[in-house]
Amino acid sequence: MKIDVLLGLQWGDEGKGKIVDALSPEYDVIARFQGGPNAGHSLEFNDVKHVLHLIPSGIFHPDKINIIGNGVVLDPAVFKQETESLGLTLEELTNRLIVSTRANLILPTHRILDAAYEFQKGNLKIGSTLKGIGPAYTDKASRNGLRVGDIMNRNFRTLYEGHKEGHLAILKNYDFKFDLAEFESGWFEGIELLKRFRIENTEYLLNRLLSEGKRILAEGAQGTMLDLDFGSYPYVTSSNTISAGACTGLGISPKDIGEVFGIFKAYCTRVGSGPFPTELFDSTGELLRRKGCEYGATTGRPRRCGWLDIPALKYAIMINGVTKLFMMKSDILSGFETVKVCTSYIVEGKEQNEMLFDNNTQIDPVYADLKGWNENISEIKDFRLLPEKLIIYIDFIEKQTGIPITLVSVGPNRKSTIIRGWKPA
Ligand code: GDP
Ligand code: IMO
Ligand code: MG
Repeated sequence: MKIDVLLGLQWGDEGKGKIVDALSPEYDVIARFQGGPNAGHSLEFNDVKHVLHLIPSGIFHPDKINIIGNGVVLDPAVFKQETESLGLTLEELTNRLIVSTRANLILPTHRILDAAYEFQKGNLKIGSTLKGIGPAYTDKASRNGLRVGDIMNRNFRTLYEGHKEGHLAILKNYDFKFDLAEFESGWFEGIELLKRFRIENTEYLLNRLLSEGKRILAEGAQGTMLDLDFGSYPYVTSSNTISAGACTGLGISPKDIGEVFGIFKAYCTRVGSGPFPTELFDSTGELLRRKGCEYGATTGRPRRCGWLDIPALKYAIMINGVTKLFMMKSDILSGFETVKVCTSYIVEGKEQNEMLFDNNTQIDPVYADLKGWNENISEIKDFRLLPEKLIIYIDFIEKQTGIPITLVSVGPNRKSTIIRGWKPA
């Protein structure tokens, strides 16, 4: 058996949580490999909506193992709040969820540092979710981090105080007020809760499960255009969101990767700062935001909206080695007279397709205009019953990218999912 990877191809919020939950019955294990509580993965079933930040989106399926891998940065305070909000008992949770010893911890002072750095940047701020992601990964890379396995150390409190003092010394250089005690109490309660879960070297567990023929789905967070190396740096997150990140974030080998499911919205959104070539500043952008309920699942911020960007999608497909495309929020495009797709960019008078190094370069999108459709598609279960104009839209994207669209999502509910010409796992 191979590990299938599901990840976002745009700027995050493509609908990863919904699809991981919908595909979970086909897998034995669901494993998060990067990011942290900056993620907000929404799931809907039985008329209830859940938003997950740290916990893998397979958690609502009783017989599945969910793993928080070594590549994740974990905030115990968020972990506690989240576990208490799911409507699951502690026994159910501890049976279903296993945490890597090697996942780095987000400390209360990481959150304060994140806010202080953003405050200092003023207009140049990244638009971070302020969850402490950047500072936690910085400490990991500079070999100053604390990891989940450390909480078992008898001297953990002393270790923590040492790290905290280091951060407070940095914060002295910033004119930034904060209340650390407020963050600390919830954090230590979270540490105590975490101790009740299975904490393991999950790289061994995953490789063993793989050799036993278990089916594993790796769940990405954020999106390819927010990747630390290949996104619009510095307007990115601090981890590798791409398929390669599943190897380093779980301890699995590239030879064990099977399918790479690339998930994208039928249009584009971005939350936070940074380039967005197809962004719409007019009433069409506002309409996309309103119809698509485009407000951040983690921060509640309005998402910037625009038309589908094929050069960016092709770039993401190349970097990730996408084998199947999943198109989300197709229902939101019903009712537009014309649906536009950006097929290339004009940069300094020349047409081109590449992602640019310099974020300040003026990019003018070249659009293809496709005829829109009016039918409400949210109840449709069969691909062949979709409106003809939507099928033309899907064909157009497949021709442009060379990758089949094998799943079309037509609503937030796990059941509003049309699978086409393929059987999962
Ligand atoms: P994620 O971060 O990639 O898991 O995505 P988010 O959960 O942050 O954002 C996706 C939003 O779109 C959520 O509110 C989902 O409930 C919703 N959603 C997912 N798929 C669809 C769909 O096909 N149609 C509609 N209308 N909403 C969807
Ligand atoms: P999911 O998994 C959308 C964005 C932030 C900011 C930048 C850096 O729900 O798709 P960070 O807090 O990581 O330092 O912020 O990345 N960002 C996301 N945008 N969806 C997400 O996750 C995001 N996680 C981070 O808005 O621009
Ligand atoms: Mg999200």
